[in-house]
Amino acid sequence: MADIKQVQQQAGLSLERLWPRMEITFHDEANAAPDDWHAFEGRLRHEWERLFGLLFGLYGGEYDFFYHLEELLKAAARSWFARPSWLKQLDARREATPAWFQSQQMVGSVCYVDLFAGTLHGLRERLPYFKQLGLTYLHLMPLFESPEGNSDGGYAVSSYRHVNPRLGTVEELAELAREFQEHGISLVLDFVFNHTSDEHEWARKAQAGNPEYERFYFLFPDRTMPDAYERTLREIFPTVRRGSFTWRQDIGKWVWTTFNSFQWDLNYSNPAVFRAMAEEMLFIANIGVEFLRLDAVAFIWKRMGTSCENQPEAHQIIQAFNSIARIAAPALLFKSEAIVHPDDVLSYISPRECQISYNPLLMALLWESLATSEVKLLDHSMRHRFRLPQETAWVNYLRSHDDIGWTFDDNDARWKWIDPVGHRSFLNQFYIGRFPGSFACGVSFQENPATGDARIAGTLASLAGLEQAIQSDVEQQIDLAVRRILMLHSIILSIGGIPLIYLGDEFGVLNDYSFASDPHKVNDSRWIHRPQADWSWRKRIENDPSSPYGCIFTRLLQLIRLRKQQPAISGNNTEFVDTGNGHLFGYVRHGGSQRLFVVTNFSDHPQEMNGNQLRVYGLGYSFTDLVTGQTLTAERPLRLEPYQFVWLETRKAV
Ligand code: GLC
Ligand code: GLC
Repeated sequence: MADIKQVQQQAGLSLERLWPRMEITFHDEANAAPDDWHAFEGRLRHEWERLFGLLFGLYGGEYDFFYHLEELLKAAARSWFARPSWLKQLDARREATPAWFQSQQMVGSVCYVDLFAGTLHGLRERLPYFKQLGLTYLHLMPLFESPEGNSDGGYAVSSYRHVNPRLGTVEELAELAREFQEHGISLVLDFVFNHTSDEHEWARKAQAGNPEYERFYFLFPDRTMPDAYERTLREIFPTVRRGSFTWRQDIGKWVWTTFNSFQWDLNYSNPAVFRAMAEEMLFIANIGVEFLRLDAVAFIWKRMGTSCENQPEAHQIIQAFNSIARIAAPALLFKSEAIVHPDDVLSYISPRECQISYNPLLMALLWESLATSEVKLLDHSMRHRFRLPQETAWVNYLRSHDDIGWTFDDNDARWKWIDPVGHRSFLNQFYIGRFPGSFACGVSFQENPATGDARIAGTLASLAGLEQAIQSDVEQQIDLAVRRILMLHSIILSIGGIPLIYLGDEFGVLNDYSFASDPHKVNDSRWIHRPQADWSWRKRIENDPSSPYGCIFTRLLQLIRLRKQQPAISGNNTEFVDTGNGHLFGYVRHGGSQRLFVVTNFSDHPQEMNGNQLRVYGLGYSFTDLVTGQTLTAERPLRLEPYQFVWLETRKAV
């Protein structure tokens, strides 16, 4: 590790040498827009030491380090000059309130453009729907050019500069971003930066034997290196192919492919890769994207003898991207997609790395509590794992386009007398519907014959029991399933952070089994929960609370409105409390001089919480349940019906 003082000196000297050259290169642009140039210089000088330190740490030993550094600065300046003025205004606004996304006004959603609305044009026409939902954050699933047929749902990118022509154009996307921003909706896109598709121009050049581009990937002539790495690697897609490498007959080489065989891992130990991807990132930022979902962050740095996940350099790379964003696209923030051990998930979250992150632990443990009807593991884990640094936030979700993995900590489980291995196996059986009495209709994903490990696929509603209940046509079961679905939504809406709704779930959409007849999808069971939106069906039931779907939609909308009115839900302050009842999950939110006490019953039987406890945590004797409008008093125990939730506000003395 180089001495900090020394690196500071080197940073200073390097900028002294580089800046006059930048002034010459950008002489005309600077004269034409002097304010822009000054703003750029100011941000660059502010970030410089950090950026230089990170890049020097990663690439200082490379013979062409200084060349890449200069090219990177030029790319950043070019990108800043090209940045549309509406985005520069947004930059200034966001810099003035860096924690803006912690607001209770935030509500997120995610969808596939094609499955939800056909094209980008179709999606723009859905703006009234997004406003009806109260959205402020819209994640469009991968929409850049990707191979025909199986492209892992677009997660194999062939060009970061072109939208998949079936969906529209980059220009249309930029228009959409601006229009949605005018309506208070931030655009979120993926930055699939761990790998490209094997059809990306860089991969094609590597296939043609161009040595510069061969170094963009990990190519090996024989099994020596792959075997050595595989001794310590986890298999991510074992049903696609064993191991993490793919043999390419056409070039006579093994290629590192952590995910599908057509997704080639990029080699970030090469500074040219970092620079190339930084340029792609800035291009995407200038389309008008506010959050980049950093895909598969854990995997971007490889080190022999390790799992090649969560390596220190992975953090340095993301921090360096973050620093470049601060200089040339300040409104751009990062969302971490690290579906790994909870300690590792946390390690990506900071204002200097990823400002927001999926919360896979809360997601998995909500499903765990639903299966067991007990909240002990959820409560214990959240107590010491929910707190985040200032100016960051969780993205709390119930379902995504991916599978559910049981990523809780083994020792957390043991602490609560739960055997982690047996428990995971129980949860898998439960959600695949193999456990007697289970209400769930799910399927397994990537069952590993060697380890017995598996993950779960299925829609929120099917996993929560609606599919089975509708099939058996038992009113009471349907009612319980609807309650479960709303209860889970209530938690992500009230616990603090950004709630993220996987579109389709707002109606309780069921599993779609048709993927099994599509040859490009049949081997990836995640397609079971990626159905095509049926708008005529939606319209028909939207206002029909007698159908379970209409009921879910109407009540969810009410809950969203309720969330937006509660200042206590903004910010990062959640305190988990002991409800004295193993089925009741409780937490207190405070902020903006409001205090909310949320209690949720995970059992299908009525449960009670002692009045004294209620008084202690609620800080009062008399409460209003904001969900039902009822007045409650701590003189009696709090009684919750099956899967009921209350948002209690202390009643002010009149
Ligand atoms: C992420 C995506 C997942 C994809 C993988 C490879 O985990 O969420 O859908 O398969 O990355 O890009
Ligand atoms: C693994 C990865 C995660 C990815 C998922 C896709 O769990 O850790 O990043 O989303 O596979 O199924």
